[in-house]
Amino acid sequence: MITFETVNVEIDGPTATIYFNRPDKKNAMSPQLHQDMHKALDAIEDDGNVKAVVITGVGDSFSAGMDLEECFLRPYNDPMLFYTTNLVALKWFQRLKAFPAVTIAKVNGYAFGGGFEVTGLCDLAVAAEHVKFGLSEINFGIFPAGGASWAATHNLQRKQALYYILTGDTMTGKQAEEFGFVNKAVPAEELDAVTDKIVSKIVNKNPVTLRLAKEVYERTTHLDLPEAIDYDQAKLWELARLTSNEWINVALKQFEKRSFRPGVETYKRDVA
Ligand code: COA
Repeated sequence: MITFETVNVEIDGPTATIYFNRPDKKNAMSPQLHQDMHKALDAIEDDGNVKAVVITGVGDSFSAGMDLEECFLRPYNDPMLFYTTNLVALKWFQRLKAFPAVTIAKVNGYAFGGGFEVTGLCDLAVAAEHVKFGLSEINFGIFPAGGASWAATHNLQRKQALYYILTGDTMTGKQAEEFGFVNKAVPAEELDAVTDKIVSKIVNKNPVTLRLAKEVYERTTHLDLPEAIDYDQAKLWELARLTSNEWINVALKQFEKRSFRPGVETYKRDVA
């Protein structure tokens, strides 16, 4: 376990788990936590072998979002301090969204503001059924900013996104699943096991393929079909080169021998 002041990181082979660790403050994101998140992402990148990053909270909360006192109230009268403090947050949010490994939010409790956003920025998300998600910004007089509105608009349908942005109402884990904001909502006692099962499906894949699959998804959402095909074909050649053509030389050779069925399982990566 690597411990920073407000964030812990556990790296176990191809899986890393980041824990927000301010349970007495519902894991609200203080300026220190924002700095620690950069250190956590650095540690995972430096390891070089991580394919899946799970983000969760210590205690009964995922994260109650930005620390309203430390990030907003206290530095407000010093414009440069306010700007630089919050820039650290805005930068790790963007880093998380572009992270090369697969990111999975394991939402164990309250997820407001920045906590809602982190769930939306992650590639995948699993939540306990009882948790409460909320964009509470409207309740204290602003709109969701720093990527929080983006997280809503890119994970929810328009009416739902606007409902939560404009009312500040909370959404349960169960509703989040119905709306597609999380992949699964499960009873709290099953949260770890269900997340582990998803992680196990990710970590037996080739890491280059995972990274390029994310890149192709992200880029092609903004492209018309001819450009999308052109882009994905170029990426396919990149993949072939960076993986020594593993899909042809290993995976499809196993299929040719009828030793695996791609529809229902992954090829054996350590077998030629
Ligand atoms: N910023 C700073 N402190 C926060 C916080 C936040 N976002 N969220 C919770 N805390 C603090 C509380 O002030 C309290 O601190 P204290 O012990 O020094 O009084 C502590 O965490 C425990 O929270 P508390 O409010 O007592 O717990 P609760 O179970 O009654 O309510 C919440 C939990 C999450 C509903 C409530 O704390 C809340 O509304 N937080 C703000 C959520 C929010 O608007 N986030 C968006 C930020 S962009």
